[in-house]
Amino acid sequence: MRMHEPILLKNMLQPGYTGSLADYERTGGYQALRKVLGKVAPAEVTAMVTKSGLRGRGGAGFPTGIKWGFLPKDYQGPRYLCCNADESEPGTFKDRQLMERDPHQVLEGIAIASYAIGSETSYIYIRGEFALGAAILERAIREARTAGYLGKNIWGTGITVEIYVHRGAGAYICGEETALLESLEGKRGLPRVKPPFPATHGLYGRPTVVNNVETLANLPHIINRGPEWFAAIGSPPKSTGTRVFCVSGHVQRPGNYEVPMGITFRELIYGQAGGMRSDKPLKAFIPGGASAPFLTPDHLDVKMDFESVAQAGSMLGSGGVTVMEEGTSMVWAALRLMEFFYHESCGKCTPCREGSSWLTQTLRRILDKRGRMEDLETLADLCKNIAGRTVCAFGDAEVAPILSTLQYWRHEYEDLIRETKSLGLPGVSELVM
Ligand code: NAI
Repeated sequence: MRMHEPILLKNMLQPGYTGSLADYERTGGYQALRKVLGKVAPAEVTAMVTKSGLRGRGGAGFPTGIKWGFLPKDYQGPRYLCCNADESEPGTFKDRQLMERDPHQVLEGIAIASYAIGSETSYIYIRGEFALGAAILERAIREARTAGYLGKNIWGTGITVEIYVHRGAGAYICGEETALLESLEGKRGLPRVKPPFPATHGLYGRPTVVNNVETLANLPHIINRGPEWFAAIGSPPKSTGTRVFCVSGHVQRPGNYEVPMGITFRELIYGQAGGMRSDKPLKAFIPGGASAPFLTPDHLDVKMDFESVAQAGSMLGSGGVTVMEEGTSMVWAALRLMEFFYHESCGKCTPCREGSSWLTQTLRRILDKRGRMEDLETLADLCKNIAGRTVCAFGDAEVAPILSTLQYWRHEYEDLIRETKSLGLPGVSELVM
């Protein structure tokens, strides 16, 4: 697969690039906003984004222009844009880098989207732990306001775009768009039932678009270089552009790599990330954040586009690729993720609240060498009763590690159950926590 020069990480890869307004302007920053604001009709900007094929980079991959198009056309009253910067998916750390290292690229994207949908007040809902990112964004907003790129009546066009940073309080669920809106409204972050979607009933009940950081950061480039240019990159027609994949785990060079969509996992893991860290071969990998089912070495040649990964039985999700070497206990790996989901379940829906506890306890018991063969049926049954039975996608996410490890490495569960406590291994309760 032909590589493509980085688009989103390009600036920050230049030596000495600080992400200041002056640096950003030197690379052509804010030219896209100048091109469209008050000059190109908002509907036309939306049409350009639709034409580019840009799909959401937060996880679900929903077409961005189409999402904007869902906003009611004749609505009198405020509309809102919320930039979802609550990046919390285990193994995912791209938005953080985009915000910390090139904040104006994100702000320009937000300003363009705000103009396109008619949002005068836009928010960046940033994960509470990203204190540095929040401070950097606050400073960048001040710079952009002073320079006249943001604020009231920008360049005398009558168009207003104000951006505010709102820090979350450390709850994974607040990355779910409706929980994010509840939290932004000052309430406890619990997901709402959809429909209605935020497009019609969002922040304060008003039409709202929630877009991920990376999604928005692509907008200046689509405007500057044209939707056709973007639509030709990657794996057209359904997975266009590049993605910033976050590679972690047992590889030589963990990190963020921006590559065109459609390269294979093998190219990413063995090319960009330098291959395995030791002579132990690859055993498993998670292709798109903790919510995505595990894949095996047989899937290394799957193309990293939305459709191909779905066909392989998983999803590209948030772009977090976690690599595990031979010797990793897959039951242990499933438990680590389950511990996370159990801790983060918001408690609103019974199947998720109770189920995450049962799943965690059952996995712990198996690892503690107190498991029974019936536990495997219990696990599968619990998963069946959680997936698809919750208000948000959390329920589907939390069962993914268990169902996929049961699918590919069931023998590891069985071996653990067959072993006896007399092996003298430490109980899992001593290893976790
Ligand atoms: P979703 O498929 O329900 O929605 C995707 C987007 O399209 C939403 O903005 C939704 O409002 C909009 N949409 C869908 N149908 C619509 C309609 N008929 N009318 C108007 N708008 C519509 O998926 P969701 O729940 O937003 O996201 C789930 C994904 O989030 C998972 O696949 C997972 O990969 C990802 N995720 C990412 C995390 C991160 O840290 N980046 C953390 C956890 C999960």
